[in-house]
Amino acid sequence: MAAARPALRRAIPSLRSSTFLPHHHQRPQCLHHHVTISQRSLSTSSPFCNDTQTTTSSPSSDRETHFGFSTVTESQKRQLVASVFTSVADSYDKMNDLMSFGWHRIWKDHFVSTLNPGFAPLSSSDPSSPQHILDIAGGTGDIAFRMLHHAHTVNSNPNVNVTISDINRAMLSVGKSRSAELPASQQAALSFVEANAEDLSKTRPLTPILSQSEQTFFDPATATSSIPDNSVDLYTVAFGIRNFSDIPAALREANRVLKPGGIFACLEFSKADRHPLFNSVYKEWSFRAIPLIGQLVAGDRDSYQYLVESIERFPRQEEFRDMILDAGFKVSGQGWEDLTGGVAAIHRGMKPRV
Ligand SMILES: C[S@@+](CC[C@H](N)C(=O)[O-])C[C@H]1O[C@@H](n2cnc3c(N)ncnc32)[C@H](O)[C@@H]1O
Repeated sequence: MAAARPALRRAIPSLRSSTFLPHHHQRPQCLHHHVTISQRSLSTSSPFCNDTQTTTSSPSSDRETHFGFSTVTESQKRQLVASVFTSVADSYDKMNDLMSFGWHRIWKDHFVSTLNPGFAPLSSSDPSSPQHILDIAGGTGDIAFRMLHHAHTVNSNPNVNVTISDINRAMLSVGKSRSAELPASQQAALSFVEANAEDLSKTRPLTPILSQSEQTFFDPATATSSIPDNSVDLYTVAFGIRNFSDIPAALREANRVLKPGGIFACLEFSKADRHPLFNSVYKEWSFRAIPLIGQLVAGDRDSYQYLVESIERFPRQEEFRDMILDAGFKVSGQGWEDLTGGVAAIHRGMKPRV
């Protein structure tokens, strides 16, 4: 078997090289490159978080899983994914536009407008009480900012707040900087927390990155708070869940934190193979162009190679819908909506009212 991808292998020195597919492109820079971010006012609070005792363990054992086309353990995947998103944080928004020809904006706009935050109570809670939206793997804030704009401006309902949660401080910090452009009322309704989606009982408010060598992904041992049971009206995750090491654990956590009647909504890349001609063009583009664009624009081929492989590995629509059902959600109809022929899909589930 060929050698491991050099940059990702640096992220986990003990990674067995035989787990990786052949890859001939050397990255010109270290995955842990410097993240240049404004450090202004990074302290924040979340409406969901309960103080809790600090915990020390990670959520799961070290079972095997996939990192793109490679086989790794769950803890290795967590570190590799963290390295990928630390590496891409600064170029993430620009690369999204280039890779998708701007389509990700249309999908995100559609995702948010169909959820229609702020229009009506999303769960069985008192209609006059604030609606809490938890945007998991929220990264640089694209979904959270749209949610706030839709609720506060389109639906003229300022009684909606959003927490952006992500395992990666570099991504969240870019989001925090971007949020400075939002109207003050929307900034006030926004909070940032670091957490692993697979265990939302361990979170902490976003802390600034102080040095280049500092670990930029969340360590559960530093947790100071928890997202309580039955506290969230709407749980969103966009283009995040395929990166999780233990997707069923994350779905169970979504079910735990949602109020009865609360909505789980996931926007993720999916399968377009119902349209074979279109699908073959799309696959060519993904596997040939995206890693190359990553190399030319972001100086980072490996991370974008992982992104296309992770899309390929993600379960098909029916299989993911069944995982949502297994986690205790109810779905209506077939349970998902295809976007652009299935290149992406929106899955939704409702936590049953008891
Ligand atoms: C492709 S980005 C999506 C960001 C944003 N939701 C968007 O649509 O632009 C994926 C995000 O998932 C985060 N992520 C990966 N694994 C995670 C985990 N186990 N828990 C929480 N976030 C995770 C990454 O740090 C990254 O910010």
